[in-house]
Amino acid sequence: MGASEPMNYIGSKLSLAPFLLKSISGVLEARGVVLSDCIFVDAFAGTCAVGRLFKNRVKQVISNDQEFYSFVLAKNYIENTTPLQRGTKLLRELEKLPPLRGKIYTHYALGGGQNRQYFSDANAMKIDAVRAQLAHWNAQKSISENEFYFLLASLLESSDKVANTACVYGAFLKSLKKSAQKDLCVSPAHFDLSPNPHYAYHKDAQELIAHVPAHILYLDPPYNAREYGANYHLLNSIALYDDFTPQGKTGLRDYQKSAWCKKNSVAETLDMLLASAQAQFIFLSYNNEGLLSPKQIAQIFNKHGKYSLRSHQHTRFKTNVYSPSLTTTIEYLHVLEKS
Ligand SMILES: C[S@@+](CC[C@H](N)C(=O)[O-])C[C@H]1O[C@@H](n2cnc3c(N)ncnc32)[C@H](O)[C@@H]1O
Repeated sequence: MGASEPMNYIGSKLSLAPFLLKSISGVLEARGVVLSDCIFVDAFAGTCAVGRLFKNRVKQVISNDQEFYSFVLAKNYIENTTPLQRGTKLLRELEKLPPLRGKIYTHYALGGGQNRQYFSDANAMKIDAVRAQLAHWNAQKSISENEFYFLLASLLESSDKVANTACVYGAFLKSLKKSAQKDLCVSPAHFDLSPNPHYAYHKDAQELIAHVPAHILYLDPPYNAREYGANYHLLNSIALYDDFTPQGKTGLRDYQKSAWCKKNSVAETLDMLLASAQAQFIFLSYNNEGLLSPKQIAQIFNKHGKYSLRSHQHTRFKTNVYSPSLTTTIEYLHVLEKS
């Protein structure tokens, strides 16, 4: 199956895929290690862009993220490996559902009366109708687990495309932007087939790496204080569809904080993770605007084995309160061969 349109996600590595592939396979080749024999752990998976890149290049991908919406994407994009014969038919059935005034409509559309407008009324009711139907099918066991995650990942990504936000879910826009006025259509989250099994986890990275085997450990943690749980809370609410209490003007739900987002704990967290990792090759993506400087990272890496560094410069638009500007960011790939 082909690739579907990617999510606009903070720190997504989609545009860096060629750089990552070239650097990682280059390091392995130089050591005579065959990539296709390796277990690759993507410990901070986000959109699963990196896991998807390696899915059919390695023996096995193990994908992980502490956010539930990312776990849902991984259950589909990484763990799903065989064709779903009923995929299109099930999506068609979802398109025919009558609108439902459910949790998303109540808390996050103007019609719900809470003065929040993350979605148009019609799209929020459609999200509710589809999500409630998926819960029903799942409870009745009338769809398989593979189908459930394929459909839920399709709903998450399609909902994100009609969200009325500037980019993340920290706030909504006052009036409905053009893309948010479009009717939500649940389009398929196509995944790559694979002859090998691949797995998805929903854990803290530190906890994960103590339990899974790996030859290659790829780390792409948050770089700064922006918590993913807060910035993508609505995706968790759609994915979990649990009983939650939205707080304040923005309707933020309770979220999990990350040690990687705190200036005073991030160095120690990285050190601990490298100490307990079993993988022979460890790669860390981090840019030059992060909480840790390249020098600090080099010091920590040098404690645990042979260290080297690759870098890639890229230019992007950055919006600030005054004006958009063109900035150059250096993306680093820190490499460790564990001793
Ligand atoms: C920079 S993003 C990863 C982007 C990803 N490589 C991609 O291409 O989409 C960082 C990810 O780390 C996750 N995260 C933050 N703290 C974590 C932790 N302690 N354990 C596991 N995942 C964590 C966040 O939810 C977020 O998805």
